[in-house]
Amino acid sequence: MSLLNDFQWRYATKKFDISKKVEQSLVDSIVEAARLAPTSSGLQPFKVIVISNQELKDKIMPIAFGQTIVSECSHLLVFAAWNRYTEERIDHIYSITTQERNQPADRYQRYTDMLKDTYLKQTEAENFGHTARQSYIGLSFAMAEAAVLKVDSTPMEGFDNAQLDALLELEAKGLKSVLMLPIGYREENGDWLEKMNKARHPKEEFVLEIK
Ligand SMILES: Cc1cc2nc3c(=O)[nH]c(=O)nc-3n(C[C@H](O)[C@H](O)[C@H](O)COP(=O)(O)O)c2cc1C
Repeated sequence: MSLLNDFQWRYATKKFDISKKVEQSLVDSIVEAARLAPTSSGLQPFKVIVISNQELKDKIMPIAFGQTIVSECSHLLVFAAWNRYTEERIDHIYSITTQERNQPADRYQRYTDMLKDTYLKQTEAENFGHTARQSYIGLSFAMAEAAVLKVDSTPMEGFDNAQLDALLELEAKGLKSVLMLPIGYREENGDWLEKMNKARHPKEEFVLEIK
């Protein structure tokens, strides 16, 4: 089993078939893949917002500079990262870890003290740089799962983050948008990019081997 055929099949879909909706069980699997993505120290400092409401998708389209995939997709996933680390946020995930792994209450104390010492000293921008990077891992896992399930998707950074944060009231939740992932089904023969070859650096350029 390899994922490579699925990765050849997927592409950044530019036109979704508006008549086709992704079944809830498949949406759940794609979101679950993002939830299972590894993150630095297991902090999982981002959330996925799942939008199926057409009116809301239509409102987001102009915020994404008119990219029609936002309106035409079946579901729009928004990856939003913690605006900053806090003691509570670090303690919360480590209380889950302690419980899930059936560990003594102070098992992770020294480690979480070290995390707090590192992250709480940083600026909010440094924190967000780190939390945002974790959300890219979640996006990658979600995209891979979508490809395996033959659900089309488009990774997106092309939108006005501040405007989206305001519309989704993310500041009150201590979150900032990082990425969007519209999912759906490609419009067969209606998408100029569908039949195009993948353009990537050749392997010899891409890989630097040290033997
Ligand atoms: C982080 C990221 C942001 C992207 N933002 C956009 C976007 O806003 N709109 C868009 O149409 N494509 C966007 N893309 C798609 C890329 O252009 C595309 O993935 C790349 O050209 C490779 O092509 P492929 O995905 O079809 O293999 C983005 C891709 C990534 C990974």
